[in-house]
Amino acid sequence: MPATQNTLVIFGATGDLTQRKLIPALFNQYVQDNLPDDFTIVGFSIEDYTTETLCERLHEGIQQFSSHSYDSTHWATFSERIHYVQGDLTRADSLQALNETLNQLENNAPADRLYYLAIAPRFIEPTMHNLGMANMQVQDNGARKVIIEKPFGKDLESASELNDVVHSVFDESQVYRIDHYLGKETAQNILFFRFANHVFESVWSREHIDNVQITVAESVDVGRRAGYYDQAGVMRDMIQNHLLQLLTLTAMEPPASFSADELRNEKVKVLKAVRPIELQDTVRGQYEGYHEIEGVADNSLTPTYAALKLYIDNWRWQGVPFYLRSGKALKAKATQISISFKRPPRLMFDMNIGQKYTRNVLSLCIQPDEGIHFTFETKVPSQTMQTELADMEWHYRSIFGESATPEAYERLLVDALNGDASLFIRSDEIVQAWRIVDPIIKAWETDEGNPMESYARGTWGPAVVDEMLENHGFEWHMECVH
Ligand code: BG6
Repeated sequence: MPATQNTLVIFGATGDLTQRKLIPALFNQYVQDNLPDDFTIVGFSIEDYTTETLCERLHEGIQQFSSHSYDSTHWATFSERIHYVQGDLTRADSLQALNETLNQLENNAPADRLYYLAIAPRFIEPTMHNLGMANMQVQDNGARKVIIEKPFGKDLESASELNDVVHSVFDESQVYRIDHYLGKETAQNILFFRFANHVFESVWSREHIDNVQITVAESVDVGRRAGYYDQAGVMRDMIQNHLLQLLTLTAMEPPASFSADELRNEKVKVLKAVRPIELQDTVRGQYEGYHEIEGVADNSLTPTYAALKLYIDNWRWQGVPFYLRSGKALKAKATQISISFKRPPRLMFDMNIGQKYTRNVLSLCIQPDEGIHFTFETKVPSQTMQTELADMEWHYRSIFGESATPEAYERLLVDALNGDASLFIRSDEIVQAWRIVDPIIKAWETDEGNPMESYARGTWGPAVVDEMLENHGFEWHMECVH
């Protein structure tokens, strides 16, 4: 039985994530009446804030970053539920004091608690330890759940060790590892599209599909995050998590039910079936001028762009190449998944068979112009036998309105408050995802593999990436970019 009270404790309450994403998301859900009736938000940080000064900062965040129009009446009642506790999460006595404050705020009555670790990775381990020392994981008086932000570890070994640390305090059923891509409406829609429509799922296999592409292009550069990014690079920052998550949703088998474990079992099976990636099937790139950014090492080998080809060794996908690519400082922001179907076995029309057409492509546009495209050949009206590619397109905005898709954090926070872990990453998923990318990261760090390609800002990345596909008679699809 869930408790009637809910307490959300945000560790790192004065940081960027809390101001830009978490509080605007909670506020939007509050305005729409989707939060539990009786909830309290407790911000915790080492910074010298008070409840008033924290509220001022969060208020600015809502005005600046909320996707809904600001409304002062709701803010007045929402802000009454916010409290600030100053303390040091590396000290056990600080968390014991926090626990006492929480008990008081909850009147020592049952309450479900969600601890959100919006903190730098190096603080996760001490926080876990001190939560344990204060017995804050014990579920005698309500549920105790913890959300952990990415990056979860920096390689296979550290992620496995971190799992052990987390499990020394919390049971896996209490742990919510976040990947905000899973909170995107369009990412969730991959499953609805596949499993609520017979027509596509019945051709979703090696018999009909000749390649699958997942592109996550970003126009932003590293910005002021060089300190973090130069240690991470695109493989850790994007591919290990966001792109592999999109891959699992695209390739998984239908789960027996939509329950968190059934769903995640199927996702893990996909990751387990990914064949070790050949170094020659990878491209790494760095945008021009990256070395000049403050915080980037002079001789940095950190890739800001990566493309790779992988295979999923299972019955459904045997032999079908999956191409993944992601990069910063590119021409446009666009996330899309393209399913390229096979050519017809024979063409009786008098057309130039070597041409690019005769391949149907289904593109799921994850962002920013959320929608779906499907391309097909159509006869050009005339006496000839010519065909032309037509694009059947559908956009969320045209059906559901301009601001139809909520921010990813909105959905994820509400799910975690309600105890639904379906859209969170399980420990074995994290480990499998690291298993896939780790050998490539390690090889690149010692400068093995294809050489680092330089690319100009504002382009689509290194030109050699096109060759990766052209060698197989394929091309990259960008139907979602206009
Ligand atoms: C984050 C990465 O996880 O995702 C950032 O750390 C990246 O580098 C961001 O810019 C992209 O998220 P979105 O939702 O803008 O595609």
